[in-house]
Amino acid sequence: MNPQKSASSEIAQAEAPSNLKAERQSLTVVDNRTGQSYDLAIQNGTIKAIDLRQIKTDADDFGLMSYDPAFLNTAACTSKITFIDGDKGILHYRGYAIEDLAERSTYLETAYLLIHGELPSRQQLDDWTYHIIHHTFIHESVKKFLDGFHYDAHPMGMMISAVAALSTFYPDAKQIFDAESRRKQIYRLIGKMPTIAAFAYRHSLGMPYVYPDNDLSYPGNFLNMLFRMTELKYRPPAALERALDVLFILHADHEQNCSTSAMRGVASSHVDPYCATAAATAALYGPLHGGANEEVLRMLADIGSAARVPEYIKRVKGGEKKLMGFGHRVYKNYDPRARIVKRIAYEVFDVMGCNELIDIALEVERIALEDEYFVTRKLYPNVDFYTGLIYQTMGFPVTMFPVLFAIARTSGWIAQWQEMLLDSEQKIARPRQVYRGAGLRGYVPMDDRK
Ligand code: CMC
Repeated sequence: MNPQKSASSEIAQAEAPSNLKAERQSLTVVDNRTGQSYDLAIQNGTIKAIDLRQIKTDADDFGLMSYDPAFLNTAACTSKITFIDGDKGILHYRGYAIEDLAERSTYLETAYLLIHGELPSRQQLDDWTYHIIHHTFIHESVKKFLDGFHYDAHPMGMMISAVAALSTFYPDAKQIFDAESRRKQIYRLIGKMPTIAAFAYRHSLGMPYVYPDNDLSYPGNFLNMLFRMTELKYRPPAALERALDVLFILHADHEQNCSTSAMRGVASSHVDPYCATAAATAALYGPLHGGANEEVLRMLADIGSAARVPEYIKRVKGGEKKLMGFGHRVYKNYDPRARIVKRIAYEVFDVMGCNELIDIALEVERIALEDEYFVTRKLYPNVDFYTGLIYQTMGFPVTMFPVLFAIARTSGWIAQWQEMLLDSEQKIARPRQVYRGAGLRGYVPMDDRK
């Protein structure tokens, strides 16, 4: 075997910073089992896991793999969509700071930015908005499908099923490499998610469904479908309409999180985007991901009063509980979205009255940010810590919280789906495993088993 093997070092040389010698853009590893050394190219701060495969003890050896459960240190793609610096608490969509977008953009404009890569011109935004608004109606049979759920069905379960069901209504969605077809599914998905969510909500109340109103904004129409009663024309309260729009912007994308990885992974089989979005929505449902805002509210209610916070924190430190809405795989600093959410909370309280749980939340944050357990583990409030308080104050039941997250995240999932499909380096997602089970054994007839 050649003792000195090199992996695509010409690529590394092409991208070497001028102050570094090109040949230093590689990693030399020595296999102590054989004494052989290998040069692995370093590109964009990564080595290719497949380059490890050449490291073998003999010709029959499969070759070295990297072992990374939960993908703690594995980049599964290159992306131009979202940038996060978790140590500094920075979040950008397509190069624009989240603070700037939250202040000056709208959800539909941000969705356009995520999916197309650039902010739209006036005409592009008008066309985009027109097409999405004109895809908000759902087929009457989807309505009947939703009717089939029990009155207390969790709206996330209804949403996951209804989005998957859309796949059966739009067989043209299978044309995933046809740009025109993709465009149509994108309008449909962004347009119909709020309608499905609102219908799920109305179903849980046993109330008649409210059809979309094309005169209203994206969040305004959503509020209409949720809350309209007997009025001929629903007028969404301006402060709530804007608050919801900003919350949608904050949740629109977050690079390779659990649900986005589900979207990419499932869609890598070339299934249609409705099935992939249903899978992503299912991943989001979990309490460690989009279900966390629901859990935060339950936790605050469970704590009951600011005076009982120290006792609860003690239980968290004892490993009995998790502090929901705290901690993040990527952020080891204050989540920049949480800062904006905290501000919006007060804007909503000004209109709707204060949420009594806010005092408990503030006390949890104050104590946790001073406590050695949380400080040493770099556990800060994440986006979900304050969103639940806002949603509850706006009149949403807790079960609707993850649904709101799913509506917003749809644009991010779609952007990531398209990027994955058009990336020539991507293939069907198929991780390896380290088999640790039994060796080959003979089948034991039933009567001979112990
Ligand atoms: N409460 C108490 N301890 C915690 C928490 C928490 N919320 N989060 C992490 N830790 C501890 C954890 O026990 C571990 O301690 P030790 O080193 O002693 O074993 C240490 O901090 C590192 O945690 P980890 O489990 O290795 O971190 P992770 O990156 O695997 O998990 C997380 C990230 C978000 C799943 C986790 O922090 C968590 O469960 N948080 C609560 C749920 C939550 O708020 N989720 C929403 C995330 S933001 C929005 C979204 O992505 O949907």
